[in-house]
Amino acid sequence: MKVLVVGSGGREHALAWKISQSPLVEKIWCAPGNAGMASLAECVDIKAEDMEALADFASRQGVDLTVVGPEAPLVAGIADVFRERGLALFGPDRRAALMEGSKHFAKRLMLEAGVPTGRAEVFTDYEEAAECVRRSGPPYVVKADGLAAGKGVVIARDERAAYEALRACFLERKFGEAGDRVLIEEFLSGQEVSVLSFVDGEEILPLAPAQDYKRVGDGDTGPNTGGMGSYSPVPLMSEEDYRRVVEEILRPTAKAMVSRGIHYRGILYAGLILTEEGPKVLEFNVRFGDPETQAVLPRLKSDIVTAMLATLEGGLSDIDLEWSEESCVTVVVASGGYPGEYRRGYAIEGLQEAGSLEGVTIFHAGTKLGADGSVLTDGGRVLNVSALGRDFREAREKAYRAVERIRFQDMYYRKDIALRVVDMA
Ligand code: GLY
Repeated sequence: MKVLVVGSGGREHALAWKISQSPLVEKIWCAPGNAGMASLAECVDIKAEDMEALADFASRQGVDLTVVGPEAPLVAGIADVFRERGLALFGPDRRAALMEGSKHFAKRLMLEAGVPTGRAEVFTDYEEAAECVRRSGPPYVVKADGLAAGKGVVIARDERAAYEALRACFLERKFGEAGDRVLIEEFLSGQEVSVLSFVDGEEILPLAPAQDYKRVGDGDTGPNTGGMGSYSPVPLMSEEDYRRVVEEILRPTAKAMVSRGIHYRGILYAGLILTEEGPKVLEFNVRFGDPETQAVLPRLKSDIVTAMLATLEGGLSDIDLEWSEESCVTVVVASGGYPGEYRRGYAIEGLQEAGSLEGVTIFHAGTKLGADGSVLTDGGRVLNVSALGRDFREAREKAYRAVERIRFQDMYYRKDIALRVVDMA
């Protein structure tokens, strides 16, 4: 089979790496890919958003399966473009992608289907939203309805911060149309866990859970990022909680989509919070998580391509996924300054030595090849260092030993990834 992976981050490198292990696959392209993906696939210079050019390429090359990493092309309808041209693509179509593309759509579906989630009110006007803030108490969860590059959710600790978040959406229109509708949600507290599942209509095949670290600093301090690390499995989540996620969240959500005439085909990512009343949904995403994927896939023993094909062609419920008993820890190595301003183009040293350590796999996130073949930094999140170990203590030791072998100017990483679970598994 010939496979095209769309995207250029650590998640897409992990997907291409896992796909390359499938006996079904003979050739992989990545569009546009990065320096790490170039070692296992041919990179083609087409942007993830350029749907027609990607479909032309897939058609010309006889690609059998296209796998889309990021949400933006899915929300824009890349699956519809491919399917209209008879091309197989792993990912939901435009209507199904509203599960991430519209927080209002997803919230309404959850509330109607009785899927546990926080209460919410929806507004299209600044004054009415501000009135809601005045009559409720802090903290306020203010969410732009549409895609806002990970910046559309604000947890406002006081009224002033809540008004600021509402002004950014309605008056300054920082997110364009995506912020023309805003949800003000109930604040929920607890540990956050991500459970991803293959979904084909009403059939689901859940993956092992993972936890990611969104804040830039140790001890969950500083601004939010795209994710500074992750680990899998999640000992903080009981087997009973996992069962409830499958039976009370994933299965009813898949069913509710079908009853609305939506046939979801792809990965559904449930961003969850473990409250005293049980697991509740914070948000759905319509693609693999980043950096959760980089900690989940190293533990997956089964062929991912078989599961992807079953999602598209039927038979998902006949598949059992086999998991390694080992724990996986992923440390994100970033450019100093991220998520604010940072510089690109620094040479990265020590990659080979770090990547050859036992149990370690390095997924590139923001890298590119220099003219002399050296690997250069090319993004805020630069590398994801994943390590498998008998337990979290060993996996952490291996991951950080590898990170310490890597050097580039202004390199930054969190030191506490998976620290909270070292004594738990
Ligand atoms: N780790 C958060 C996300 O993938 O959206």
